[in-house]
Amino acid sequence: MSKITFLPGQQTAEALPDQKILVTARKNKIEIRFGCASCRCGTCGVKVSDPTAFAPMKPDEETLLARMKLPTSGIVRLACQARATGAVDTSVDISFQDTYSPDDGDEDGSL
Ligand code: FES
Repeated sequence: MSKITFLPGQQTAEALPDQKILVTARKNKIEIRFGCASCRCGTCGVKVSDPTAFAPMKPDEETLLARMKLPTSGIVRLACQARATGAVDTSVDISFQDTYSPDDGDEDGSL
């Protein structure tokens, strides 16, 4: 089990190994923007302080981030996809969600 500190509110939550950021936030009543919860809409992007705290991203997450012109290095993750390793405490900045639009990078506005 690891600890996630959600910024900017500084709320902390315990994350079970393999538990998604979105699930951890919702179980702890932390407000987080999301839509499809299945790697389609792109609304749930968050910035993480330590990418090693989460399992590597799968191709569909990487593809969606790239389509939105967001970093695919692991510093930005989709909360509905990123699973905690449970080994490393980290912080997740939810305010990142206010810095981009899921429609960015998509010329016709659909993803
Ligand atoms: S909630 Fe739609 S991609 Fe995460």
